[in-house]
Amino acid sequence: MKKIVDETIDFVKNKLIGEGSGHDWWHVYRVYKTATLIAKTEKGNLFVIQLAALLHDIADWKMHDGNIEIGAQIAGDFLTTLNAEITIIEHVCDIIKKVSFKGAKTKREILTKEGQIVQDADRLDAIGAVGIARTFAYGGYKNREIYNPAIKPTLHKTFEQYKKNAGPAINHFYEKLLLLKDLMNTETSKSMATQRHEFMKSYLSQFHQEVE
Ligand code: ADP
Ligand code: NI
Repeated sequence: MKKIVDETIDFVKNKLIGEGSGHDWWHVYRVYKTATLIAKTEKGNLFVIQLAALLHDIADWKMHDGNIEIGAQIAGDFLTTLNAEITIIEHVCDIIKKVSFKGAKTKREILTKEGQIVQDADRLDAIGAVGIARTFAYGGYKNREIYNPAIKPTLHKTFEQYKKNAGPAINHFYEKLLLLKDLMNTETSKSMATQRHEFMKSYLSQFHQEVE
């Protein structure tokens, strides 16, 4: 198992190092570490959790024309070359398809314990100081404005609407990031989210004070 995890680390590192939208290797590494930490108290199959954390952004739909299947496909093909067990591969692929945020008012995916932990770890990296940095990096990568008072945030009801959204980066805090604290799946993650959430709120109040 350790060999498969190590080979997966090499594979993902090679593929995502230097990526410029905030979905780079170091994002994946933090999610892997955080998921491993959450699993210490929340349990679950650590092998599945680590593989899913490592492979969750191998081909994100945001960078692949909204294609939700491609990440799981690439991960599944890769794990097959390592002769991982089929039940493990299927579980990891299922998590990869479901973890991504798809809009504030869309129906929530049903996740296994392992999926819940990976989703929480990914979401913890979307909030706090790191979350703020990643949001503006992503905005720049997509050529978006930082702030535009004429474009108001929307709580998207469908994934199709959420996908098409091209609003300024600051709107992303209201459309997703400030909601994440209450969407955490596990108690361990909820307590980790609190301080990061408060930091984002104080950042935003300073931001609005400066621009308004
Ligand atoms: P998820 O799959 O749940 O969206 P990711 O690991 O793909 O999680 O990372 C999402 C991060 O990408 C967000 O937290 C944010 O930093 C950035 N991002 C995604 N969409 C936007 C957007 N419309 N505007 C600004 N940042 C965005
Ligand atoms: Ni991610």
